[in-house]
Amino acid sequence: MRYKQLSNDLYINNRKNFTKHMKPGGLAIFVSNDIMPTSADGHLPFKQASDIFHLSGVDQEESVLVMFPDSHLEKHREILFLKETNEEIAIWEGAKLNKEQAFGVSGVRTVYWKSQMERILHALLAEASCIYLNSNEHTRAHIDVETQEIRFSKHIRKTYPHYHYERCAPIMHRIRSVKANEEIEQMQQACNITKDGFERVLKFVKPGVMEYEIEAEFAHEFLRQGSRGFAYTPIIASGFNACVLHYIENDAQCNAGDVILMDVGAEYGNYAADMTRCIPVSGKFTDRQKDVYNAVLSVMKDASNLLRPGVSLHEYHKQVGDLMTEQLLNLKLIDRHDVEKQNPDWPAYKKYFMHGTSHFIGIDVHDVGPWHEPIQEGNVFTVEPGIYIREENLGIRLENDIVIQQDGYRDLMGHIPLEADEIEDLMN
Ligand code: GLY
Ligand code: MN
Ligand code: MN
Repeated sequence: MRYKQLSNDLYINNRKNFTKHMKPGGLAIFVSNDIMPTSADGHLPFKQASDIFHLSGVDQEESVLVMFPDSHLEKHREILFLKETNEEIAIWEGAKLNKEQAFGVSGVRTVYWKSQMERILHALLAEASCIYLNSNEHTRAHIDVETQEIRFSKHIRKTYPHYHYERCAPIMHRIRSVKANEEIEQMQQACNITKDGFERVLKFVKPGVMEYEIEAEFAHEFLRQGSRGFAYTPIIASGFNACVLHYIENDAQCNAGDVILMDVGAEYGNYAADMTRCIPVSGKFTDRQKDVYNAVLSVMKDASNLLRPGVSLHEYHKQVGDLMTEQLLNLKLIDRHDVEKQNPDWPAYKKYFMHGTSHFIGIDVHDVGPWHEPIQEGNVFTVEPGIYIREENLGIRLENDIVIQQDGYRDLMGHIPLEADEIEDLMN
């Protein structure tokens, strides 16, 4: 195992949190992701589905978790079905979890092989009154392939057409958004690795370097430390490229005088870090670059202080808009007249700051969470304001990940260089 596994107490507790929200007689089923094919006999590295991971810690394909809290048989209140393994299979397929190990990882006592699932599930369902199925309800999800989850749901609905069905997703969004201490420590480790990558890059960057060479420095540091790599496709964008919000080509040369925007985070133990830093290619910002940089930094600091238990995320985003408006007025990018006549649905500041300021982060980079409910202690958010000035070939975004606490926040990236002067000092 590349990463430090979390204790099975966490997963036992996560399942308790889930079953608390179930209706009497409900039976919930969660499946693993597929191993995604590429071409010929190739496939992508396995990436576990976040929900079954959150509820079991099982990081293996072809696994199924069943929770049936009202089963008359205690041993059937939680079941894992796993891909069968034994010494013979291990020679060909590599080590997979045996039943004892699966219990150790997840705290689920009853582990059966996947081949027994149809029969056992059929017997369990005779006693159940409704079935909870999972689906990807992330508001920005766009899925063209038929995932394991979709195929499995279709199969169950077809086989058991007379049942009442419930959705797992709303429960998962709520429980995953409040992080346990152990999860926060895992995220801290993802951030620590990201820090080391960034410090490596600060020493490495000089005029003429290619964006992909910078990407490679991050990758080296991440893999070296037990991360499986980037938590999302990294953006290494110099000069004008920084104004292209989803730039991922990373194939341009970095020229003296330009600023490089780097939106990069390490994955660790299936948890994500999401960091953005901007650095001058030549090691020194121009006065104008520094003014824009400090404007963004000021919004970032003020925004972080607005994130408190009880606050509405929609209200927060409006307030950050006001902070950004003030900064853009100071920078003379917009004027009072622009603000007075602005369209409330697309305020003037959006011309230079057109994306959201914060999103939930956790197992997924854009993690699931209850967007329309007040912020809670234990939520983890990014704070990532930006100013993109296409006409000046300059894009600045700064991004840290913070944990909401009762009266304040813990900045998981508070130790990563951020002030403009500090960046310059480290580069020289
Ligand atoms: N790296 C993706 C984001 O900042 O949301
Ligand atoms: Mn980011
Ligand atoms: Mn982000």
